[in-house]
Amino acid sequence: MSEQVLKTLKVGLEDRAYPIFIGHGLGSLIIKSFTEHLGEGKKVAVLIDDGFSEKAPLFVKELLSRVSTLKLPSGESTKSVQFLSKIWDFLASEEVDRTGVVFALGGGVTGDLSGFAAASYLRGLDFYQVPTTLLAMVDSSVGGKTGINLSAGKNLVGAFHQPKAVFIDLDCLSTLPKREFSAGMAEVIKYGLLGNKSLYHKLLSFSKPLNSESKELPEIIETCCLDKAKIVESDERESIESSGGRALLNLGHTFAHAIESVAGYGEYLHGEAVSIGLICALRLSRMSGYCSDADEKILESLLQSYALPVKLRFDLCSQALMNAMQSDKKVKAGKIRFVVLKEISDAFLSSRFDTDQVLKIWNSVGAK
Ligand SMILES: NC(=O)c1ccc[n+]([C@@H]2O[C@H](COP(=O)([O-])OP(=O)(O)OC[C@H]3O[C@@H](n4cnc5c(N)ncnc54)[C@H](O)[C@@H]3O)[C@@H](O)[C@H]2O)c1
Repeated sequence: MSEQVLKTLKVGLEDRAYPIFIGHGLGSLIIKSFTEHLGEGKKVAVLIDDGFSEKAPLFVKELLSRVSTLKLPSGESTKSVQFLSKIWDFLASEEVDRTGVVFALGGGVTGDLSGFAAASYLRGLDFYQVPTTLLAMVDSSVGGKTGINLSAGKNLVGAFHQPKAVFIDLDCLSTLPKREFSAGMAEVIKYGLLGNKSLYHKLLSFSKPLNSESKELPEIIETCCLDKAKIVESDERESIESSGGRALLNLGHTFAHAIESVAGYGEYLHGEAVSIGLICALRLSRMSGYCSDADEKILESLLQSYALPVKLRFDLCSQALMNAMQSDKKVKAGKIRFVVLKEISDAFLSSRFDTDQVLKIWNSVGAK
């Protein structure tokens, strides 16, 4: 398909503001950006997910033939200190200096890892995000959170480092496996639940679940990017305590990160763990007298329509999950802060839950 920019959004962060281009066939736009940098005598390094590169559209092959490239193995376990150090060594061997530019092509794993490498190498290189999974398009490529996992927990080491631009080429989704598409839908559903009622109702109104070909998809992606941009603009570094701010984007994630870490990175896709986490968050809300039985059933069936899990696939030890939660970044002074729902699309932060209550939630999704 020929180039068609459907939307250009903006993340308004003063001197760190950047555009998000959404469209089809954005290869030439990406190559133009490349060429401009090269023309200015800068080194351009491409970090690309190996799984994506195998199936990548033609423009990627053209890019790869022009600049230094490092292929990164697919999967959550790549978001590690081992691969971070591989990228640093690669940038050093390519003699990338402080004017150098990094392009990250892949899903959230590639984006988070490459972004952190760019944030840390020579104290900060410019970087560009080319998200190729639905999850990365609607969430991880926007907002500047970069980082890696430790065995002690998800995303424990990282930095805020905003990209210079995000190129969302919808054509990349044509090769995305169905299971990965569904994982991205968990984050889409999250946006509806945490604050966008009309998005939530729209998702419920579709006669059949969305797929990468759905005509409604570009608008859904745009809505999520706009919601994320708005939240990031108001609280770039997740420092607002009272009303929740950026921390609200973590709806379901305290549970999800514990599942990923205890089950072993990669056992659940991030979006699948988020799906169970959303159910946990809704049950926690119900424990406080918010939301209804009907809300829970509706959410369950929406998630299940995308073949997303609503309970653990196999036993995990509830105490191990509790311990993993304690190392979550959202723990403040030993208290775990949860995002709960006053009602659908009205989220807030609360740390009033005790251990027994949280254990009950874990047991309700099948932890032993
Ligand atoms: N930084 C943030 O704000 C933020 C937000 C949400 C999630 N995340 C992180 O994102 C990560 C999950 O990202 P993800 O779901 O994109 O997973 P991922 O990066 O592991 O990609 C999923 C799989 O899809 C393959 N793939 C990628 N693009 C493809 C394409 N177009 N065609 C075919 N295959 C393709 C990859 O090879 C991989 O196997 C997690 O580490 C999570 O913590 C970060």
